[in-house]
Amino acid sequence: MKEKIVNELNKQLQNASPEEVILFFLNKYKEKIAFSSSLGAEDQVLTEMIASINSTVRIFTLDTGRLFPETYDLIQKTNSRYKINIEIFFPNAKNVENMVNHKGINLFYESIENRKLCCHTRKIEPLQRAFKGLDAWICGLRKEQSVTRTDCKLIEWDKQNQIIKVNPLIDWTDNMVWDYIKQKNIPYNILHDKGFPSIGCQPCTRAIKQGDDIRSGRWWWEQPEYKECGLHEN
Ligand code: ADX
Ligand code: SF4
Repeated sequence: MKEKIVNELNKQLQNASPEEVILFFLNKYKEKIAFSSSLGAEDQVLTEMIASINSTVRIFTLDTGRLFPETYDLIQKTNSRYKINIEIFFPNAKNVENMVNHKGINLFYESIENRKLCCHTRKIEPLQRAFKGLDAWICGLRKEQSVTRTDCKLIEWDKQNQIIKVNPLIDWTDNMVWDYIKQKNIPYNILHDKGFPSIGCQPCTRAIKQGDDIRSGRWWWEQPEYKECGLHEN
């Protein structure tokens, strides 16, 4: 049923611009839609687009507790620039304590299982809390980002979370993102200028060499096909 609705919406909006897609969904879901931002380059583009339409739309971020200081600075800067208040969702303290006391503070390097446990504890559980009362979420996914994302659609039914997922920049290239950022003078993470095209948690992200795959600095010790944290698995 939901899949059918999503297919129809994909057809209806196939030629729409990201701004038109955003406007359509903000009108359709009103207070039941929110944007999840990791403060990445794509997310900054979406914040600009959303805030220009309606600066009261909910924007939230999952603060895993292991983010780069530069990312925290950008949260502050973005709030000031757009006069918004990005909501912070923090992991459950008891769950984090149990996890690190049993498995080690840097458990993620030990195995994929440990890494997924950490991502679940620090991202997925807070995300599920953030979804309370929502029917739709906006994300910054792009097809070009990874082998795991080439089949992503503009609009998807997120079965796991029973929520509509909207990816307005799904077909944008890296150049389109950066042209837009420069053109509108959008604040961005200064790590992007230091070889970090994709930024997640500090211990799980490193700089890459020019020409390397965009997400090769994320969980760099794992194979590309495993490199999802569970946020985007349908
Ligand atoms: S991740 O799953 O590998 O971390 P990525 O960094 O590429 O994802 O981001 C893709 C999209 O997922 C972002 O544009 C954003 O919408 C959402 N996202 C990822 N991490 C977070 C986060 N910490 N808080 C909120 N949204 C996030
Ligand atoms: Fe934990 Fe690394 Fe996942 Fe962040 S990216 S939640 S530190 S495993």
